[in-house]
Amino acid sequence: MRWFPNVAVVAAVMSLMVSPASAADPVLLRGFEASTLHGAVRPVDDPGAPDGRAISLAGVATRRVALVTGSGLVVRLASSCVGAGLRVRLDGGPSLTFGAGSSAWHDVRLRLRITAGEHLIGMRSFPRLRGGCTRLRVERVDVATRGRGDPVLLGAAMRAQNLADDHLYAATFVANFDSLTPENELKMLFVEPQPGRYDFRAADALVSFARAHGKTVRGHTLVYGSQLPSWVTNPPVPWTRASLLAVMKDYIDTVMKHYGSQILTWDVVNEAFNDDGSFRDNVWYRVIGRDYVEQAFRFARAASPGAVLTYNDIAAETDDAKSRAILRMAADFRRRGVPLDAIGLQNHTNLFGFPRADILEATMSRYATLGLRVEITEMDVGAAGYSASPATGSQLQADAYRDAATACWDVAACGRLTTWGISDAVTWIGSAQAPLLFDSAYEPKPAFYAVRQALLDPR
Ligand code: XIL
Repeated sequence: MRWFPNVAVVAAVMSLMVSPASAADPVLLRGFEASTLHGAVRPVDDPGAPDGRAISLAGVATRRVALVTGSGLVVRLASSCVGAGLRVRLDGGPSLTFGAGSSAWHDVRLRLRITAGEHLIGMRSFPRLRGGCTRLRVERVDVATRGRGDPVLLGAAMRAQNLADDHLYAATFVANFDSLTPENELKMLFVEPQPGRYDFRAADALVSFARAHGKTVRGHTLVYGSQLPSWVTNPPVPWTRASLLAVMKDYIDTVMKHYGSQILTWDVVNEAFNDDGSFRDNVWYRVIGRDYVEQAFRFARAASPGAVLTYNDIAAETDDAKSRAILRMAADFRRRGVPLDAIGLQNHTNLFGFPRADILEATMSRYATLGLRVEITEMDVGAAGYSASPATGSQLQADAYRDAATACWDVAACGRLTTWGISDAVTWIGSAQAPLLFDSAYEPKPAFYAVRQALLDPR
């Protein structure tokens, strides 16, 4: 969808062209030095900062700035404090949280859903920084207009079988999605059906299709307790910890190296936890123990050092025992240097209790604070059993999708929303659930327009 600037945006841009910005001018579309923030700022010399100067932020600081519709802020910051970060709020609204992921200078991006005009930007460092910890340092704040900031990719899970059979299936993907996740083809059951006998044919078909159309691919999933070949679940000779770790390592090595730079985001471990936060029972956990998750991430980093390594789980969108177990594990991994880069929230849901945007944003922000990326990886919204009118049902479904897309847009660490299929004709929960963005005839549903608007045209 093309984005057409509205009258207010054109006026804001015109006024910039006739009156160049000065230090006293609130119209600063090109951003500002952090030293022009008002409040708890102290100018410091910082040889690591691009021009040798920065501020140390110890509390709240504010600045008025003119922004255009769909702008984003790019804040360049650094902090030597583990767990430190920045909260940014606009016009006194809810604050968005960023972890200062590293002590090196780096940019954090904040996408905004705002209308054109003058806005008050507020920033606060957290936690209350003191003691041996250097304060949070900010160098400058740049303003990015939409299109130049990081986009949110829209992805879909696909099946090789339907790709071969169904022209509309492929065409709908190519026209509307940016990213492809093989729905089953990269699971161990299909990739290593016999020990050491790898079969990449089905996954390769999906990967080459995606690449031929300039789409990116998510790898799903290297280590999973389900969809395993029987030689893993029922071995002729019982596994030992060492023998099963060797199988896991060989699998991760072989699969990641087969794809190399063709797949640079992987679900390394999928669904390790029960709803009560305990470990799910599966062969990896039983034989290797709870550190099978950590071992998988270490093998994955070694096999493909440039890949984004993701922990993915189901029904972990709200603040409950399961999502707290994941958060504890993620914090522990970060502390101990276990190579974890991102968290995937599957967001399989339905009309009767889908997570609202504020809940998703809060969950995502907790991971972002640890310096992790986040994604929504498998969204679908089951609609069966809804007794009010079909029109109300499809509006409610659109709300569920809009909320997820809005949350992903609002949290800078979220870079992609993937739906678990394309059309209601091909879905793991059955067509009667009508859970996806396109109907069984491949016509876009209200949910599709809601997602598109939230991702491309927020206002
Ligand atoms: C599902 C597929 O969609 C089905 O086709 C298959 O029969 C079972 O697996 N969480 C995940 C996915 O991480 O891999 C699952 O995919 C759905 C739940």
